[in-house]
Amino acid sequence: MTVCVITISDRASRGQYEDRSGPEIVSILREALSDCEIRREVVPDEIQAINDAFDRHTDADFILTTGGTGISSRDVTPEATRSYCERELPGIAEILRAESYRETPTAVLSRGVAGIRGNTIIVNFPGSVKAVRLCTGVLIPIMEHALSMLRGEGH
Ligand code: MTE
Repeated sequence: MTVCVITISDRASRGQYEDRSGPEIVSILREALSDCEIRREVVPDEIQAINDAFDRHTDADFILTTGGTGISSRDVTPEATRSYCERELPGIAEILRAESYRETPTAVLSRGVAGIRGNTIIVNFPGSVKAVRLCTGVLIPIMEHALSMLRGEGH
């Protein structure tokens, strides 16, 4: 499985802030998944920059983003993801928000979406380390099955 982790943050992309959430996702994935190629990038909160990053990884099975899902004017990750995807995967966004809400009520402020473009599943996580720990843990058990379904391999 190939997974690309994209941190979406103006400050992290300028080096003004150390990105801890991207590396946290990578380390959880490495621990849980054997035989997984993992890539990582950091891009600013710009729709074009986000879509360009997606374009660089069209061969990835999953693109997991962290950050830019909130309600500040610079938070454009959901818009960039929705317009890029051909089909939505609302169930993933719903369960991530629901499980996050059990941990923190402010999780309802995350507008993250999930969808499919080509053979790639794209999922938005919120930006905090706490959020990505929870969201990565929720996603991992469904990753393999989602890929076989997407490839038409059946159950
Ligand atoms: N989800 C989890 N599991 N844990 C969290 O700490 N933080 C919330 C929410 N989702 C949080 C969470 C907060 S405070 C915000 S503002 C939104 O995610 C959006 O975060 P983002 O703009 O960094 O993506």
